[in-house]
Amino acid sequence: METLKDKIQVLRDQFAQAVAEVRDQQALQELRNLYLSRKNGHLTRLFESMKALDPEQKPAAGQELNAIKRHVQAELDRLENKLRAPSRSGPDIDLTLPGRVSYWGSPHPVLHIKERIEQIFLRMGFSIEDGPEMETDFYNFEALNFPPHHPARDDWDTLYIDDDLLLRTHTSPVQIRVMEKRKPPIRMINPGKVFRKETPDPTHLPMFFQVEGLVVDHGITFAHLKGTLECFLKALYHERIKIRFRPSFFPFTEPSAEVDIGCTVCNGGGEECRVCKGTGWLEILGAGMVDPQVFKNVNIDPEEYSGFAFGMGIERTAMFSLQIPDLRYFYENDLRFIRQFSKK
Ligand code: PHE
Repeated sequence: METLKDKIQVLRDQFAQAVAEVRDQQALQELRNLYLSRKNGHLTRLFESMKALDPEQKPAAGQELNAIKRHVQAELDRLENKLRAPSRSGPDIDLTLPGRVSYWGSPHPVLHIKERIEQIFLRMGFSIEDGPEMETDFYNFEALNFPPHHPARDDWDTLYIDDDLLLRTHTSPVQIRVMEKRKPPIRMINPGKVFRKETPDPTHLPMFFQVEGLVVDHGITFAHLKGTLECFLKALYHERIKIRFRPSFFPFTEPSAEVDIGCTVCNGGGEECRVCKGTGWLEILGAGMVDPQVFKNVNIDPEEYSGFAFGMGIERTAMFSLQIPDLRYFYENDLRFIRQFSKK
């Protein structure tokens, strides 16, 4: 009599042949039904035939049947995956689609303006200096002629780390560091980060960039200050930019001035201009002749030497030259904003 084992072997061979002939999903589904259907599947019927066996034969038969069932199921699943995979006859991609252009990145607009400013001053023979972002009270205030508790300190909203250490509120401490290190002639700029206790709004940021400038030599006068800044601003904006000097006060310069340029947005004509608020002028930097007391603080003889210094905010400058209405855009890291200034 044909044993269960024989039947299983026949079934295994038939199944292998049938599998080899399957070409599509429909044939696969039919094969699945033929073998596994609960009603009349070949395997279901074999399981049923087990009922007729002697009880002691049942466990071994059950094992064999389970093994062939697992084999059939695995083969059918493998076939299904194979049929689902894309056909190998043609390319898997549409070669007629235009390619995707990858974005190469570009300098951040603030960095870009900073580099332009550096280029202009390098051409005028200035060196580029560096200084720490965390400063002592001495460099940020005291040596710059702010006595302790002097009300002028209130103009700089300072972030203190402890009684003596602070985040520098301006780049002016680098003037002191450079004059301590080197004897005149000095002609330097220092671009860098500064920090102030401000809530961000369209015209204020708690962190921003400044560029400091310092010139010290024999016979430096206010005319040098004016000439240098005019030359710089014309190179940065354009030849016809209007420039005006207003008297001002800084503890470390005397006399002091604030420098305005004619509004780059309305050109002075817009009464409703949001950028210059209808004044026609934009305040762009602070400047002045180095105070003799500052020279004394760094052991330079104010009878022998004189000099001028200036400081400007880089984001403000970028804002005016790129016509950006809100300073916060610079640091939101929105690539849609930054990519607008990519030079390609
Ligand atoms: N440090 C000043 C500021 O932050 C600017 C300045 C620099 C003024 C140098 C005069 C000379 O406002």
